[in-house]
Amino acid sequence: MFRSIVVTEDTPAEPGTAELRTVDDDFLQPGAVTIAVEYSSVNYKDGLALAGSRGVVRSFPLIPGIDLVGTVVSVDEGGAGDADDAGDASGSGGATSQASARFAPGDHVILNGDGIGEKFFGGFSERARVRPDALVKLPAGLTAKRAAAIGTAGFTAMIGVLALEKLGIQPSSGEILVTGAAGGVGSVAIALLAGRGYSVTASTGRADTEGDYLRSLGATTLLNRSELADPGKPLQKQRWAGAIDSVGSTTLANIVAQTNYGGAVVSCGLAQGADLPLTVMPFILRGVTLTGANSVEAPIALREEAWAALAAELDPALLDSMTNTIGLTDVLGPAGAGSRILAGSVRGRTVVDVRA
Ligand SMILES: NC(=O)c1ccc[n+]([C@@H]2O[C@H](COP(=O)([O-])OP(=O)(O)OC[C@H]3O[C@@H](n4cnc5c(N)ncnc54)[C@H](OP(=O)(O)O)[C@@H]3O)[C@@H](O)[C@H]2O)c1
Repeated sequence: MFRSIVVTEDTPAEPGTAELRTVDDDFLQPGAVTIAVEYSSVNYKDGLALAGSRGVVRSFPLIPGIDLVGTVVSVDEGGAGDADDAGDASGSGGATSQASARFAPGDHVILNGDGIGEKFFGGFSERARVRPDALVKLPAGLTAKRAAAIGTAGFTAMIGVLALEKLGIQPSSGEILVTGAAGGVGSVAIALLAGRGYSVTASTGRADTEGDYLRSLGATTLLNRSELADPGKPLQKQRWAGAIDSVGSTTLANIVAQTNYGGAVVSCGLAQGADLPLTVMPFILRGVTLTGANSVEAPIALREEAWAALAAELDPALLDSMTNTIGLTDVLGPAGAGSRILAGSVRGRTVVDVRA
């Protein structure tokens, strides 16, 4: 028996709930790799899942939690079941058949996205059974707790940084803008970029309370996010060599309109909105590139590249300074971490010690 958070669906008879339950292995979905989960984390998407959002929860009941870090208990090719993408966590036949070649009991592993916490059971549980396709071994030198502190937010920040560099952006290119700066993706992006020698401007709505924090991560300039929030001209004064944006909507449109000739912008999120009221002008007159980062479906080679870089580059003391640790039940309820991240009041990263 083990503890899991379970989200149920609204019905005409009663509202859906997110509650702590004690369940057993029979409750878990099919999957080749069974994991004793140690840590998960709270991301914006987890807040939505805990609130029962159908935009995130694809199948009820669901164990939310898009991140997990833990230890492999067993690898069971026979436990993979039929590879059916509609509702089966087993994974493709090819990758599943390699599970025992890639993993063994006792391995420390990380899983970010790949459908967990959305269509497959996720990390807000002491035990998980998952497909092996996107599992990454915990890199040497990184603790399980710090890997959870990085989580999907930090992984996304790193694939954003790698995307900028693959598009030719370097520290000598000029200023880099990070939006949603005091949030999870933003905080890690600032630390990674500053560590690589970039000059970083942090756009935030909380400069009064989080300004010192953002400077401690490596931001050299703070920008009030209201300066980017309203509709602007299609082409504006060139300010940014690159940007990592968690906000979307008119903020992203203004960023693209302010990006230097040859610059690049990575769209990671939609904290302001999913719309994007742009014109083609920045692309046809300045050769700006707008690209995206998708942590959920990132291929295994990118996952391994990003995690190796995160382990090597992210200053543990800086990571600890942006991390708050809570127990499994602390994610629940109106004052819980799930509600607080939706309200925009969480700073940095929240680790969930699922055993606490
Ligand atoms: N593409 C992917 O694979 C991927 C992965 C992870 C996350 N995401 C998305 O990226 C976004 C950030 O995720 P996160 O985990 O970092 O969330 P988070 O910790 O809640 O951070 C979001 C930050 O955005 C800013 N913000 C909130 N509401 C805003 C608004 N209305 N207008 C402008 N800024 C606003 C706030 O920063 P300040 O207080 O500093 O202004 C907030 O801290 C979310 O939309 C999430 O769904 C995408």
